[in-house]
Amino acid sequence: MAMSALDVARIKADFPLLSKVEVAGRPIVYLDSASSSQKPRAVIEAMDEFSETTYANVHRGVYGIAAQATDRYEAARAKVARFIGAPSSSGIVFTKNVTEAMNLVAYSWGRANLSAGDVVVLTEIEHHANLVPWLILREERGIELRFIPMADDYTLDLGELDRLLDGAKLLGVTAMSNVLGTLTPIRQLADAAHAAGALCLVDGAQYVPHLPTDVTELGCDFFGFTGHKMLGPTGIGVLWAREELLDAMPAFLGGGEMIRDVRLDGWTPNDIPWKFEAGTPPIVEVIGLGAAVDYLQELGMAAVREHEMSLTDYALRTLTSRFGDDLVVQGPTDVTKRGGAISISYRDVHPHDLSQVLDERGVCVRAGHHCAKPLMRRLGVGATARASLYIYNDPSDIDALADALASAGDFFSL
Ligand SMILES: Cc1ncc(COP(=O)(O)O)c(C=O)c1O
Repeated sequence: MAMSALDVARIKADFPLLSKVEVAGRPIVYLDSASSSQKPRAVIEAMDEFSETTYANVHRGVYGIAAQATDRYEAARAKVARFIGAPSSSGIVFTKNVTEAMNLVAYSWGRANLSAGDVVVLTEIEHHANLVPWLILREERGIELRFIPMADDYTLDLGELDRLLDGAKLLGVTAMSNVLGTLTPIRQLADAAHAAGALCLVDGAQYVPHLPTDVTELGCDFFGFTGHKMLGPTGIGVLWAREELLDAMPAFLGGGEMIRDVRLDGWTPNDIPWKFEAGTPPIVEVIGLGAAVDYLQELGMAAVREHEMSLTDYALRTLTSRFGDDLVVQGPTDVTKRGGAISISYRDVHPHDLSQVLDERGVCVRAGHHCAKPLMRRLGVGATARASLYIYNDPSDIDALADALASAGDFFSL
């Protein structure tokens, strides 16, 4: 097959862990990037360099390094804004992760705008991060939740979309399922939400690391993602929202930095985005996220997407030809409609057992419910084993996965 839009050998060499960690004398085969990606040396070094030369708290001190630290922190925000096509950096709120970004919308916008009987539409394929905050609000406020179902081909069934959106105030949807790999039609969904008078919130956790992202073109109102799945460190996520929405939303957490003035009889909020960044932010992690964005931009997100489509195609064809009916891929087969998170069910082997046997051969896949329990119920399984691909994977990793699956098959048929 024609490989690849990326120079994977060179990329692999940028990731220290991929060569340092060996299992049974062979480099580890990391196929769990949908859970968290590995970090390139450029990200690790950017965080070290900042800590060694510029570190100080931001937005506080007037001395030299404090001013430089603030400038670099805000420059990273501007970089992130450009990376996702946001009109300006004022709409970029730094959070702990995408889970906190979704909660920020539910706690701030949700509690200011939703009361008993108001409708929020979600989908059956959501990660718990874009589900539990709304279940909490349903318990607390008595809002109504409706769900767009999954069709049997693992895409969203939009047949009843207009009825589901009728009278809704918000549509919340993942841009790519972390279990199925399914890409959802965000522009179409956002337009339908707007036509019904609802806002559109997107969970972009699996999208931003893998596809060119332009929130303006996607047409949504809120968009969250998480740094650690896109080569960045843990502890840093992003909520982008249209500025007029953020301006109108009440503060989420209170404390330092998010205020303009505090008196004993009251307080006034800071401007956006700082109104939503209470306390000392994850400064070093923001610098790391900025370096991750640089790294991805250097590769080019169109090339990242092209690489993943051809590698996913190779993976799906390899698994089908080697295992036939013994293996079910829980997700679309058309690579233009999906990303590289490949959930499998293999004979009647429990995914945890499977993952353990693969681990003995140095192949890392995730086994479990992937924080999408309602989706697991819809699929009729308790768990799946999920191999997920990224920029540092190549066909040799897929072959290693297939070999390990074959030996697991032998092992469990004994
Ligand atoms: C689609 C999706 N949403 C949300 C999350 C939660 O990400 P985080 O734990 O970084 O908040 C994940 C992570 O697995 C995900 O795949």
